[in-house]
Amino acid sequence: MLKRTHFGGDLRSKHAGERITLCGWVNTCREQGRGLYFVDIRDKQGLAQVVFGTESSPPELVESARSLRREDVIGVTGVVRVRTGGANPKLASGEVELVVEKLEVFNKAEAPPILPDEYEADKIGEEIRLKYRYIDLRRPKMQSILRTRSRITKATRDYFADHGFLEIETPLLIKSTPEGARDFVVPSRLHPGSWYALPQSPQLFKQILMVAGCDRYLQICRCLRDEDPRADRQAEFSQIDLEMSFVDRADVTSMMGGFVAHLWKELFATDIGTIPTMTWADAMSRYGIDRPDTRFDLFIEDVSDLAARCDFQVFQQALALRSPAGRGGVVKCIRVPGGASTLTRKMTDGYGEWVKTFRAGGLPVAKYTAQGFESGIAKFLAPIAGDLAARLKLEAGDLVLFAADTWEIATKTLGELRLRLASDLKLIPEGRWNFLWVVDFPMFEWDDDGKRWVALHHPFTSPNPDQFSILESDPGACLSAGYDLVLNGSEIAGGSIRIHRMDVQQRVFNLIGLTDEEAQSKFGFLLSALRHGAPPHGGIAFGLDRLVMHVVGTDNIRDVIAFPKTQSGGDLMIEAPSPIADDQLRELHVRSAVPAPSA
Ligand code: AMO
Repeated sequence: MLKRTHFGGDLRSKHAGERITLCGWVNTCREQGRGLYFVDIRDKQGLAQVVFGTESSPPELVESARSLRREDVIGVTGVVRVRTGGANPKLASGEVELVVEKLEVFNKAEAPPILPDEYEADKIGEEIRLKYRYIDLRRPKMQSILRTRSRITKATRDYFADHGFLEIETPLLIKSTPEGARDFVVPSRLHPGSWYALPQSPQLFKQILMVAGCDRYLQICRCLRDEDPRADRQAEFSQIDLEMSFVDRADVTSMMGGFVAHLWKELFATDIGTIPTMTWADAMSRYGIDRPDTRFDLFIEDVSDLAARCDFQVFQQALALRSPAGRGGVVKCIRVPGGASTLTRKMTDGYGEWVKTFRAGGLPVAKYTAQGFESGIAKFLAPIAGDLAARLKLEAGDLVLFAADTWEIATKTLGELRLRLASDLKLIPEGRWNFLWVVDFPMFEWDDDGKRWVALHHPFTSPNPDQFSILESDPGACLSAGYDLVLNGSEIAGGSIRIHRMDVQQRVFNLIGLTDEEAQSKFGFLLSALRHGAPPHGGIAFGLDRLVMHVVGTDNIRDVIAFPKTQSGGDLMIEAPSPIADDQLRELHVRSAVPAPSA
């Protein structure tokens, strides 16, 4: 059997004259007249051209080469030479070619259902790519993504090992720990009627490792959440999971800031500088979202105080509203500099319809000119025109778009509109890495369906040190010691300082509606651990897939996972999920409530 000595994609002119062996897949073949036959061979490093039929390459070899088909697996031995017909600038190995002396066909391939070249990949549907993932992953782009992902995990392990973190594995078959999504569950054969849950994250295990004295923990782990996949979300995804003892928020954010700085230096030779911090309240008020994209300057202004002076029904009705969480109605707006010329009437009418998906009633628009406001609502704005222009720093030619509603709806509407405007008006600069820490989240949010408070991060997040006194008296105002790391408007990591005292954990459980008995039955092990010497601790988890998405520049999470699930949670290659045999169900003490789907 021919044994590889080099990768084809690595060949350069310095290899000329060397006798070498390449192994790989037939990418393309072509006859070139004068008895010459060319094959591009592909391996994990890229493509190389090999040539059959020269004086030093026996003519009978051309016959064998002619029978090669795309995706056949071959080995070739020969001598590298500088290309006689001129270099191919499209190939990294394009200066040279291999003159074949020996060919071995390791395996013939059936006619491939898809071809692993980039040009074809854009034209074929994702479903077929996922079904034949082993061919799709041969594409140089996919190979490069897998390499980048591997570089990221290596750089991660290097950084955290250098900072005293231990890599520790935690179990996959556990008891449900809430992270806000539905659990995947596994029936127990040995305990009829009992079920394991698959971890939504190793949250409680990493906290218990701190109680166990491990001090600094790292795990690159799989998390499983039974939620609908989206462009940046999978039911099965990976986290870089971290926890530290005897730390406060600044210790964790500075360690993690150091980590992303290390990664960006390794990957892009870039200095990301100091990561700025923004409070949740500022993020929501200025950007309408808890993960602001700070790459472009469009800001939301609350003008409720001015709107109160307008004789405009829409504003007055909004200001009289009160949301279920107890917040008053608001009038907010976005100033679009120069919007009078860049946004057409058709666009603003379209936005007016689109915002209804966020339950907004509409989107009043006002154009600002040298003479003041123009447009349908100009007459209502007249009493506040001067003040509004001063507040928004308006210039002639600007457009102002208003949302008048409950705080929640107006905030969401303008937050979404801000992103839509940035995309439509192409305001997002290329090549920027805007990292941002968002801090001081509310501890709880009101769940109107369940009529109770729910933890915004998770119920193991501590209140901020100065907030303990209002925990019970004003839970809605209580701020948590949670933090999120945002990159270009996407949440790449989330974490918090944890509750390390049993009595505080008990209080938080009570606040989210768990009785002492319920807390004991669900989290008895945690409460017990907290009673047996728990150090102050905190941590964070990075979404590894999202991190890789940013680094390689894709907005499809499936591009960065070797074997991802489809939008409906299926694996098309192995055809999962699938029915299981009645015997297997019986053994697990499970009876299906629905007939098995036909194959
Ligand atoms: P959280 O739920 O915020 O926190 O998750 C941490 C990070 O994981 C990523 N992420 C996802 N990525 C892909 N698909 C998903 N379905 C998905 N869900 C989350 C995000 C997110 O920022 N145990 C806590 C962490 C902690 O408190 O230390 C946790 O899991 O990038």
